[in-house]
Amino acid sequence: MKLLDGKAVAQKILGEVAGGVRDLRARTGVTPTLAVVLVGDFAASKIYIANKKKAGDGVGIASRDFIYPDGLSRPALSTLLESLNADPAVHGILLQLPLPAGFDEDAAIAAIAPEKDVDGFHPQNLGRLLAGSPTVLPCTPAGCLEILDHYGAELTGAEAVVVGRSRIVGKPLAQLLLARNATVTLCHTRTRDLAAHTRRADVLCVAAGRPGMITGPMVKAGAWVVDVGINRLETGKLVGDVDFDSASQRAGAITPVPGGVGPMTIAMLLRNTLAAARRQLRA
Ligand code: GUN
Repeated sequence: MKLLDGKAVAQKILGEVAGGVRDLRARTGVTPTLAVVLVGDFAASKIYIANKKKAGDGVGIASRDFIYPDGLSRPALSTLLESLNADPAVHGILLQLPLPAGFDEDAAIAAIAPEKDVDGFHPQNLGRLLAGSPTVLPCTPAGCLEILDHYGAELTGAEAVVVGRSRIVGKPLAQLLLARNATVTLCHTRTRDLAAHTRRADVLCVAAGRPGMITGPMVKAGAWVVDVGINRLETGKLVGDVDFDSASQRAGAITPVPGGVGPMTIAMLLRNTLAAARRQLRA
């Protein structure tokens, strides 16, 4: 069994991003800048944003934080996004999801200028992904592919099973695997006999948000297993959606939690921010 070390792959990518940032600054004098908008008080979002800030500092990408723990009116959020869209010193806008109840997430995402949408969630960017000509890839799915590629997974012709159909991970990940010529099955909460699907998977990606839902007997011998889940148990332990102990007995390769997909998401976000800055500066 091979352990897929997302932390190491993320470090490699962050090194490349740092080099790209230095190069862009030398050529244009501009520091790529990411605006982070957080509305509400969701614990996981705060962790994500703190990690992003630290990683951004490490590669020379500037952050501007717009944090509203007690909420923000819908018109005020629109005004903020409009001003960030219009600000040439801001190259990427990260609107942290989920938004608190009462917000229309679709409308808020659509209000971000597509060229500054470093998450790849804007309908225009999702449409380009579906059409097969993406400019920006959603961070977590792109991170999953990057890990599989780094360790040499063969995707063409492979049976790929994705568990979870969220906009952030499952749906775009299925598209990315399809674009790489895998035969893709997208499973979800209403799937009948989940195990019958997962047991056929050469590549099994799990983003369901349910700790330990995939156990050893549900894994094909020798499969590549990518665990996108991050769940904090009552004991304080961080675990994925895959029961690592039993699944790693059968998998050929598997990502740990923590240290698997998690670090990749932020590396891809910073890579997307650098790319967005380059496009906006035509540099
Ligand atoms: N919430 C959970 N993951 C993400 C992400 O990748 N981007 C944003 N904007 N919100 C998230």
